[in-house]
Amino acid sequence: MTSRPSDIIVVGAGVIGCAVAYEFARRGASVEIVDDRPVGMGATQASAGVLAPYIEAPAAGPLLDLTERSLELFDEFVTRVSTESGLAVPYRRTGTLDVAVDEAGLRALRAIAEALARRGVPALLLDAGAARSEEPHLGDGIAGGLLIDAHGFVGASDLTRALVTAARRHGAQLIEQSRVRRITDLHDELIIDTDRGSLTADAAVLAAGSWCGDIDIGGLSPSPRVPVRPIRGQLLSIAWNGTPLRRVTWGHRCYLVPWDDGTVLVGATVEDAGFDERTTVAGVRDLLDAACEILPHAWTAGFRGARVGLRPATSDYLPIIGASNVVPKLMYATGHYRNGVLLAPLTAQLVADAILDGRVDPMLAAVSPSRFGDL
Ligand code: GLY
Repeated sequence: MTSRPSDIIVVGAGVIGCAVAYEFARRGASVEIVDDRPVGMGATQASAGVLAPYIEAPAAGPLLDLTERSLELFDEFVTRVSTESGLAVPYRRTGTLDVAVDEAGLRALRAIAEALARRGVPALLLDAGAARSEEPHLGDGIAGGLLIDAHGFVGASDLTRALVTAARRHGAQLIEQSRVRRITDLHDELIIDTDRGSLTADAAVLAAGSWCGDIDIGGLSPSPRVPVRPIRGQLLSIAWNGTPLRRVTWGHRCYLVPWDDGTVLVGATVEDAGFDERTTVAGVRDLLDAACEILPHAWTAGFRGARVGLRPATSDYLPIIGASNVVPKLMYATGHYRNGVLLAPLTAQLVADAILDGRVDPMLAAVSPSRFGDL
């Protein structure tokens, strides 16, 4: 991209697409967000909004570097998006208590604690008694826990709505009920073909999550296929009784997130079920069993409902962020798998820096589309 693009189309109105569109719009670009479904209906639905790099990416590597850097942006990001949208975004940095139910689990937590100490990240390894002092609802079967203060959670749907509202206040347009079929480069402009007609743009960002693979890139034959596959996540909402949980409680089969309104989100299944977006009896039962194993008091909760989302996974579980090597005016921002909400502020910043200012952050090398060949 030689000159600064002014008309940009963002394909996908999930948390990543909305964050990217917001960032472009607040930097003065003219932006349209295109999706065939309402805002935040894809992977965003699978997210309980937990912001936990040291659980999601316990080993050193690009995912830890990216998630840690994005978490650092969150305080300022949420404050700014709330102010500019006029919408409240629930956001708490309560820390997480990662719970082990046996000695092997405790050994794994000890290894994480040691790695975090080497990285200079405060974390406290607790025996069973100390873990129960931190969270009195923990059951007798607990072997110990790891307390990580830096972690927190954010309302994923509220954040996504606030992002699109703030983007629109900066002039962005939302084009709904339009499914993008093809993105073609005509050299001086991009043509974005949808099932309701064609749009033109100086640049585009593909942030359609699990659905990126359905879009014809470049009109080539064969057309490159974005290598993301859907991984289903089911989440439960329960109405907690009595004293609230103190923080996010994380087990080996589920995590629980306590909201100020007394509800608790129990997440999330990890299922290779194609594009099947149903909640299932098995998913609901597994999550309830897993929650009650670590927090037996969950048996007394009211059941409010279940929801489902499809996370876009790549073969190395890293996102794809960077310019296409087939259609250079097209940039990918997809494949965030379990970390779309956590990575939203950083992704938006990196994509806008690259497209608007030609600044390609060195961190993008590890998540480049070129690792998948012609893309
Ligand atoms: N972010 C956690 C999950 O996708 O379950």
